[in-house]
Amino acid sequence: MLICTSIKQLQRALDSYRLAHKTIALVPTMGNLHEGHLQLVKTAHKHADAVLVSLFVNPTQFGANEDLDNYPRTLTDDTNKLDEVNTDILFTPSAEDIYPLGGENTSHVHVPQLTNILCGASRPGHFDGVTTVVSKLFYMTRADVAVFGEKDFQQLAVIRRMVEDLNIPIKIIGEPIVRETDGLAMSSRNGYLSEDERSLAPRLFEVLKSVQEQVVSGQKDFKSIEKQAKEKLKKLGFKPDYITILNKNTLAPPAQNDTQLIVIAAALLGSTRLIDNLAIYCE
Ligand code: PAJ
Repeated sequence: MLICTSIKQLQRALDSYRLAHKTIALVPTMGNLHEGHLQLVKTAHKHADAVLVSLFVNPTQFGANEDLDNYPRTLTDDTNKLDEVNTDILFTPSAEDIYPLGGENTSHVHVPQLTNILCGASRPGHFDGVTTVVSKLFYMTRADVAVFGEKDFQQLAVIRRMVEDLNIPIKIIGEPIVRETDGLAMSSRNGYLSEDERSLAPRLFEVLKSVQEQVVSGQKDFKSIEKQAKEKLKKLGFKPDYITILNKNTLAPPAQNDTQLIVIAAALLGSTRLIDNLAIYCE
């Protein structure tokens, strides 16, 4: 695996792939890799000749009171894991290389509407940071394909919208959520959980499944289902931010006859913010 620590070095490497007419799949990450990330790399291999993983803890997507400084940085471990799944290039730029004038002074990409709801409502500016860094990665790599996880379902929807709105010539692939055996969605932030919180955490997915069952069984009063689910989470010891049923394709409030829905949730367990979602298909 070739490790590039600067944009210049990366672009030189990519030029040689392009000269050889090889297609490139990009997997953007912030590191502290787990099986969820590695699954993205495995899928990326199916869509291009070479796989490029970027590892950059992007400061512009963290709020002032969020976990930028404490975000787990495990480069040696990550490098070994990426080697095992035959990653071709690992790109680990510095913040100075990505934002030479500083994150606040850079041009940025803003996707309207979709970023005002759910996580966007509680984390103002978060998605601007994501779309800015992801668009920079798209332009600097000119990758043919990029793979993102459905774990961050809203993020994936925002990136798809950005690519469409800005006519960025890249194909976006969504990868299903990889879970621990007890159902907890894998996340770099799960490492923040205490032992007690970790044993409680899979209940979030159980609550999502109970919402799914209610809707599939024909219950249509979405607001009341959401309210009950929120109460359930509170009783279990979560501090729910939202648990909402939406149209899976538009992330708009669902119409009664919509058949492709999603239940999507964010909840704090102690000070750790967990997110998860589950598709709901109605006949
Ligand atoms: P990060 O949280 O490191 O996630 C990188 C990618 O891995 C994202 O596409 C995310 O959805 C995916 N992922 C995380 N956990 C997953 C799981 N359990 N199953 C499947 N996929 C999973 O998301 C980011 O970084 C950043 O916002 C980034 C896009 C890199 C921009 O900075």
